[in-house]
Amino acid sequence: MKYQVQPGGALQGELRVPGDKSISHRAIMLGALANGVTRVQGFLEGEDALATLHAFRAMGVRIDGPDHGRVTVHGVGLHGLEAPAGPLDLGNAGTGMRLLAGLMAGQSFDTRLTGDASLCSRPMGRVVDPLTRMGARIGTAEGGRPPLVISGGQSLQGLHYAMPMASAQVKSCLLLAGLYARGRTSVTEPAPTRDHTERMLYGFGYKVERDGATAAVEGGGELTACDIDVPADISSAAFFLVAASIAPGSDILLRHVGVNPTRIGVLNILRLMGADITQENPREVGGEPVADLRVRSADLKGIDIPQDQVPLAIDEFPALFIAAACASGRTVLRGAAELRVKESDRIQAMAEGLATLGIANEVLEDGIIIDGGEMGGGAVRTFMDHRIAMAFAVAGLRASAPVTVLDCDHVATSFPGFHAAARGLGLAVEVVA
Ligand code: S3P
Repeated sequence: MKYQVQPGGALQGELRVPGDKSISHRAIMLGALANGVTRVQGFLEGEDALATLHAFRAMGVRIDGPDHGRVTVHGVGLHGLEAPAGPLDLGNAGTGMRLLAGLMAGQSFDTRLTGDASLCSRPMGRVVDPLTRMGARIGTAEGGRPPLVISGGQSLQGLHYAMPMASAQVKSCLLLAGLYARGRTSVTEPAPTRDHTERMLYGFGYKVERDGATAAVEGGGELTACDIDVPADISSAAFFLVAASIAPGSDILLRHVGVNPTRIGVLNILRLMGADITQENPREVGGEPVADLRVRSADLKGIDIPQDQVPLAIDEFPALFIAAACASGRTVLRGAAELRVKESDRIQAMAEGLATLGIANEVLEDGIIIDGGEMGGGAVRTFMDHRIAMAFAVAGLRASAPVTVLDCDHVATSFPGFHAAARGLGLAVEVVA
């Protein structure tokens, strides 16, 4: 499936983008392991979160739905999972695999975690190494890649771990393994990363200690079911934050967007570039801050992206690079080597597509330099990466000729219905076979 985008247009109207992917994964996991029934609304019915849902069904958890974002999880307690009949396939989802690795390390039965070609090329040593230090037994394919073969019946011991990279997946994996470990498991992060696991554990009545950059749990507690209202995903909203900013005459409202401070790098960076974004009606749902975001078009200027914003915007760089391409002057990103191990090598993938559209850029080992300028049309590769596809669809708004975005099937992992939502606001995108 491809997107064919006609140049030009402005965005108008209101939209609630689908539920937050990170929170949707965690809602299934903690709901399944809680005592009692967890009712979730706003669940992301995208392939990534559905893969996690199917994995827990395969381990004997009754899960009703999803039905218009409503899911009911009949928790089995921390020790109530059953051995699955076969491998657990996490599809495209790094979050699914890395968080499950932590949980599966504490079970009494063996599991095999696998995924699609992209996931099977991503590094898992970052979770396997510290889990092994906790006493887990995990086999991997060459180079620490999936599939992961996790031996059950190991007794885990708490660990203090200073993470070498700023990763919420690694932090969350270890805290979840810590629920099954003897003693205390603590993780120190080199820079703040999304804290949905800590917030949700707290919501399920599990104490998480936070001391500066360190989060810690004691093993041996229990989770108590609770209701979860999943905010709209700021990572999906990001494409429209950029789209409305770059398309002259735009004015849109994005409703019920999660604005957790560990996720709002995209807002901070766009504002530094001169974007006109206001937060309206701020509120809190189930321990997560939410707001409506009003975006009007603005003249953007290139900036040096502050290092402290990088982990807070890590999934939004494909969209931000399109903003940089439409800005006047030069944008410089450094300290973002993690982008190279996402669903694709996002530095290389974006550099190639930007060059196709005539935008001068220079690839750095840990970032990119982008010179804003006139954008032409052309056919852009996505490397099967959902966010690369959506970023280049949005670029069509400022291109001088049609943009064809190749291989867009993976958009369904995080944003089912993206093209219809985008069309509804005024992006001239069509799906072609
Ligand atoms: C996520 C953490 C981030 C992010 C991913 C979701 C999470 O990954 O890129 O899309 O839900 O914890 P890293 O922990 O690898 O940075």
